[in-house]
Amino acid sequence: MISYVYIIFLLITAIHATIFHLPVNKCPQEDSLRKCFDQHYIKGSVHFRDDFVDYNKDIKFEYNRLVIYFPVAFVHPVDILDIQNTIRCGVKLNFPIVARSGGHSYEGYSIGDKDCYLVVDLVNFNKITVNTTSQIAIVETGNILESLHYKLSQLSFAFPAGICSNIGVGGLILGGGMGFLNRKFGMSSDNILDAQIVLANGTVVNNAKEYPELLWAIRGAGNFGYGIVTALTLRIHPIQKIATFFHFIYDFDQTPLVFSVVNQLGNNLYQNLTLLTKMGISQRSTYVYGVYLGSVYELQSYIQDFIKLSKPKNVSYTEDESYNVLMLIDGFDPPKAGFFKVKSFFIDSTGISYEGVRYIMRFVESLKCHLHFNVLLIGGGRVNEIKRKETAFVHRGFLYHIEIKIFVTSKTCIQELENFSHHFQRRYANFESYQNINDKQLDNWQCRYYGENFEKLVKIKREYDPYNLFRWNQSIPTNTEISCY
Ligand SMILES: Cc1cc2nc3c(=O)[nH]c(=O)nc-3n(C[C@H](O)[C@H](O)[C@H](O)COP(=O)(O)OP(=O)(O)OC[C@H]3O[C@@H](n4cnc5c(N)ncnc54)[C@H](O)[C@@H]3O)c2cc1C
Ligand SMILES: *[C@@H]1O[C@H](CO)[C@@H](O)[C@H](O)[C@H]1NC(C)=O
Ligand SMILES: *[C@@H]1O[C@H](CO)[C@@H](O)[C@H](O)[C@H]1NC(C)=O
Ligand SMILES: *[C@@H]1O[C@H](CO)[C@@H](O)[C@H](O)[C@H]1NC(C)=O
Ligand SMILES: *[C@@H]1O[C@H](CO)[C@@H](O)[C@H](O)[C@H]1NC(C)=O
Ligand SMILES: *[C@@H]1O[C@H](CO)[C@@H](O)[C@H](O)[C@H]1NC(C)=O
Ligand SMILES: *[C@@H]1O[C@H](CO)[C@@H](O)[C@H](O)[C@H]1NC(C)=O
Repeated sequence: MISYVYIIFLLITAIHATIFHLPVNKCPQEDSLRKCFDQHYIKGSVHFRDDFVDYNKDIKFEYNRLVIYFPVAFVHPVDILDIQNTIRCGVKLNFPIVARSGGHSYEGYSIGDKDCYLVVDLVNFNKITVNTTSQIAIVETGNILESLHYKLSQLSFAFPAGICSNIGVGGLILGGGMGFLNRKFGMSSDNILDAQIVLANGTVVNNAKEYPELLWAIRGAGNFGYGIVTALTLRIHPIQKIATFFHFIYDFDQTPLVFSVVNQLGNNLYQNLTLLTKMGISQRSTYVYGVYLGSVYELQSYIQDFIKLSKPKNVSYTEDESYNVLMLIDGFDPPKAGFFKVKSFFIDSTGISYEGVRYIMRFVESLKCHLHFNVLLIGGGRVNEIKRKETAFVHRGFLYHIEIKIFVTSKTCIQELENFSHHFQRRYANFESYQNINDKQLDNWQCRYYGENFEKLVKIKREYDPYNLFRWNQSIPTNTEISCY
């Protein structure tokens, strides 16, 4: 009897682990939506809530399990016409619509901000076409970063994008895109040359560059509600076949020294040293790692001052094909779905103060949840050569960006993170935050994400989505009383 009960218990636990508590009720107008889809012969698969297994798979695709809503349906269009028809039905029946590429939004915005959204999942938009002569790639937005990196490195090309390999091209590039190659090639969004977009009224814009304001907006705010971007034309960059990954390890106590060396050298580090890029602080140690697009031998002369001054206790280099090097980095931030909360800070060009570093260290030591603390060097690189108003991506002129990501195992941790962030931002960091590290709790997000570009973004939104079809907590609104000047 006991073992029988125990088996049932195990079964229930197993089911809970793999299947969410799906709502059994229907969304308002759900039946009409089905009819509308049938009438318009949507060719791609459509998963409503009662399509239990497939719908559950679609839900589980979301990376952050802390924020889960239950859409009315997931549509997986196979072509532009499917997207247009989905929009037509959504508009007619008053369902808000969101696009989903990689499902890595930290606030779950690719399934909306409440139940009953209509999700346009771009998984079938996965073509990549590369022209090495013109140094251009046309990349459909349903691709994950790994596919892009892989394809390009086969041809000895690179694109500055994110670090985690299964993030979506759509969300990451349209909202900025930070990673190892930014110092050399700029933000991902700085490299958008053109785009294909399905607008709220169903019209397809095949060449966004014929609509300069729209192109301006999607270079940094393209995932904030301007339409469904189906393909991006990107500037790609020739690189050497060989790249080097390096990794320096420090004792936790050395953290202030490491920061002071980054502050001192960061703005003048060799630009081709796309590095330094990342440093991480954990409860145990602090490390600096990065990528150099060239051999170990070449790297030595550019990095020796940094090593001499910061005194790592261990130094290691891995020379390999660029693809392997870029993928190696992935191992440092395992892309497993779970419960996360993130915060973003930009640090001015002089760097963070000694007191600021001590404040971080105390937080890292006291926090009960596991965390990733990542610092990405921007100073002295291509990102800062571009003017704040040149594209929607406003954050220019900073020395580094700090991302704190906690693996939430208790509510207390979230409160501790909120408290830390509030004080840290006021005392030691700039006012701005990176829009792709989205955070619902952030006050004044409009100005923190977009600064003086916000009002122009609202004006452009009004032009291309006047009825606010693409809307959620932090999408660009059609009207505002906020001024960020
Ligand atoms: C594990 C992890 C690692 C990360 N690492 C990095 C990093 O190294 N560098 C960095 O810059 N960022 C990083 N991020 C943040 C990341 O850039 C954003 O979460 C990004 O928005 C995710 O894109 P996605 O397509 O995967 O997300 P989705 O959840 O699919 O989309 C995110 C948002 O963009 C919108 N959107 C998606 N596709 C389209 C489209 N085709 N047209 C219009 N709107 C669209 C969605 O509606 C949603 O609002 C990371 C996030 C995670 C979870
Ligand atoms: C690649 O670009 C070059 C230069 O713009 C052009 O002449 C060529 O036709 C393109 N190749 C393909 C296959 O489109
Ligand atoms: C940086 O690398 C590029 C090749 O990617 C090269 O053309 C350029 O000269 C290098 N810059 C410096 C300052 O060495
Ligand atoms: C220290 O560096 C050496 C190479 O210099 C490497 O083999 C070793 O794995 C490193 N140790 C750690 C703990 O990373
Ligand atoms: C919030 O942070 C401040 C400053 O670091 C600290 O003094 C205070 O105890 C914290 N409050 C909570 C509730 O953690
Ligand atoms: C849809 O909106 C765009 C942008 O405002 C406009 O150029 C286009 O003419 C509109 N299409 C239709 C069919 O109204
Ligand atoms: C986000 O939007 C939902 C509904 O659309 C609302 O219930 C919620 O309060 C909003 N959250 C914030 C932080 O604004």
